[in-house]
Amino acid sequence: PNRKPIIAIDGPAGAGKSTVAKLVAQELGLLYLDTGAMYRGIAWVVQTANVALTDDRAIAELARQADIDLRPHATDAKQLLQVFVNGVDVTTAIRSKDVTSKVSAIAAQPMVREILVSQQQALGKSGGIVMEGRDIGTHVFPDAEIKVFLTASVQERAKRRHAELVAQSMGLSNGEPVEDITVIAEAIQTRDDLDTTRTVSPLRKADDAITVDTDGRSINDVVTVIVDLYIAKVTSSNPTQKQ
Ligand code: CDP
Ligand code: CDP
Repeated sequence: PNRKPIIAIDGPAGAGKSTVAKLVAQELGLLYLDTGAMYRGIAWVVQTANVALTDDRAIAELARQADIDLRPHATDAKQLLQVFVNGVDVTTAIRSKDVTSKVSAIAAQPMVREILVSQQQALGKSGGIVMEGRDIGTHVFPDAEIKVFLTASVQERAKRRHAELVAQSMGLSNGEPVEDITVIAEAIQTRDDLDTTRTVSPLRKADDAITVDTDGRSINDVVTVIVDLYIAKVTSSNPTQKQ
């Protein structure tokens, strides 16, 4: 394609997509887009407007009108993106238990997906981007040069999420008590089930994606695997630009 390369990273909740995608982007000097934050932003709007999860038309209208703005963190480049929806900073609010429990039902609605996918395609049209989510390699950019499917067992993913919540509750707490690992694992499993069984672009590995099982692997290890894939790909298609 007539654009810079795209790295598509998909996989279930807690596989390490956001952490790894952001570091890969920093290392390679690429843009980074967390598409899950966009679906979470819509879920936040729906929750704030008190709209029922079954009201497809109202949800589609809210999605159409939502102004979602993802920015690199103003003061700490190591942080995940800052997320603004309709001018409100929702960076913390979109990670709440409540939004998390609603997001997969909202993300299953075809109109919501259509609206967000076209925004994601517009944001990535020049390439030079690491985009992560559930359907990037299968649907948003099926021609992405590098496709990675990150996985890990549910237990491992729940353990990570738990550790993350404990760390957060010691610093900037959002006031929510930290749940047991078993409760977190159940919530993750429910979301995985919804994400893999929905009708429109469900979570699945693209046929040409490389699976990276992150169980027991360090973040740096996974980042190196993806950076190496990218460098191998770019130098093989551009032999004169070898460094
Ligand atoms: O960070 P975590 O893996 O918990 O989730 P996320 O990436 O923030 O995504 C939240 C939810 O948005 C997912 O459970 C999916 O329901 C939905 N999503 C999606 O449907 N398609 C995407 N490309 C990204 C997220
Ligand atoms: O975006 P996604 O939901 O796939 O996962 P994440 O939010 O990037 O990662 C969930 C947690 O797992 C983070 O706290 C990471 O630091 C941690 N993690 C890890 O411990 N080992 C890895 N290889 C990858 C992520």
